[in-house]
Amino acid sequence: MLLGTQRINGEGILEIGGCSAVGLAREFGTPLYVVDEDCLRQTCRDYRRAFESRYPRSHISFSSKVFTTMAICRIVEEEGLGVDVSSGGELHTALGAGVAPSKIVMHGNNKSAEEMEMAVAAGVGRIGIDCLEEIGALQAIAAGRGATAEVLIRLAPGVEADTHTHIQTGKVDTKFGFWIVDGAARDAVAEILKAPNLALRGINCHIGSQILDNEPFVQAAEMMIDFAAQLQADFGYTIDDLDLGGGLGVRYLPGDDVPSLDDYAEAVTGTVKACCERRGLPLPRLIQEPGRSLIGEAGTTLYTIGVVKDIPGVRTYVAVDGGISDNPRPALYGSKYSALVADKANHPSTRTVRVSGKHCETDTLIEELAVPEVERGDILAVQTTGAYNYSMASNYNRLPRPASVLVSGGRAEIIVERETLDDLTRLDRVPKRLRAAERETAS
Ligand code: LLP
Repeated sequence: MLLGTQRINGEGILEIGGCSAVGLAREFGTPLYVVDEDCLRQTCRDYRRAFESRYPRSHISFSSKVFTTMAICRIVEEEGLGVDVSSGGELHTALGAGVAPSKIVMHGNNKSAEEMEMAVAAGVGRIGIDCLEEIGALQAIAAGRGATAEVLIRLAPGVEADTHTHIQTGKVDTKFGFWIVDGAARDAVAEILKAPNLALRGINCHIGSQILDNEPFVQAAEMMIDFAAQLQADFGYTIDDLDLGGGLGVRYLPGDDVPSLDDYAEAVTGTVKACCERRGLPLPRLIQEPGRSLIGEAGTTLYTIGVVKDIPGVRTYVAVDGGISDNPRPALYGSKYSALVADKANHPSTRTVRVSGKHCETDTLIEELAVPEVERGDILAVQTTGAYNYSMASNYNRLPRPASVLVSGGRAEIIVERETLDDLTRLDRVPKRLRAAERETAS
């Protein structure tokens, strides 16, 4: 499986964005997150085309949590997308990247007062209200600034998407948003409509992630529009925005069957048009918030292979110089990845190995990978790591977080520097009394 601009050159070496993976590893070190800029830009364009050609009032907003960096925010903004954020840190990153505040949507199920202040002060385009408490809090903040906050209300449409339970976010038993069926969402809307400094612009949901089937999206859209019709009937209130969140899956393994963007857009926009017509509602602006499906396949992580340990009759472990710290997804969700040996990309596979990290626990990255004969120093390229890898990385075992590079047309540029050992201790403080004790022991 080759993704985006990946290709195997005449010397049998994997290239991404016209750069040799071996050259990248040598120049920038490993582990290394590599972002295929052309692939990312193309996906942004494909998303826009798929939706805007079918539904002109479409707006695509990049869910920045998947790979929160200023350079990525810049690229998606250049491609005409908005950016959604879920914390003060993500908002700070988007603003720092120069994303127009009006193109930012702020989500989050437990926003702090500071985060809401930040969002109102910046004048972000939309703030998603997730609980009753936030209605009063946001009203007070907006009033204090003499501002009007334009808000969406987060709904739990009760759709159970077929994905890992940790990333199902729209079902009934959820911490997110207001449940529609028990009347909580309707009551919350009544509250928002009464708040003088809140302008309700519409409704939003997000039903889950890595969903490989259009049906749950269709169901969610239907339920959302049914609810919009109820609001129209009960309050004479017409939604302007219908934000259906993200959730479309990507290819992690060659056999993964992902709906095409055209089929997905056709299913969603077709449902929205048909349901609005049936309910006599004007067509709202349709917001999509893709994260994984925008950038997942544009990311590759390069590792250097170290120890190759054969346990006769059991298996061979191939250890790489990263692991659970740069990609916690296999451990968290049992996620599967595919990979190739970048410097032996045209060698036939001769055996199956287990790829492990270097952490002090069994951090399996890939349970079973078919590889050619591998040895210390080979470069392993793990694919589809553009989403929820860098952004979920940690310093476990005090490993410095990897660098990220953007590649295109044979050029490679750093977008996130590799952490140094000093970065790891930069925020440590040793209380004076401990330092004194240390001196005594030493003397
Ligand atoms: N909008 C909202 C409100 C969200 O909560 C999310 C993701 C998205 C959009 C983007 O969803 P996507 O298109 O990426 O599926 N860490 C997990 C995924 C958690 C998803 C959280 N919400 C993972 O690594 O699989």
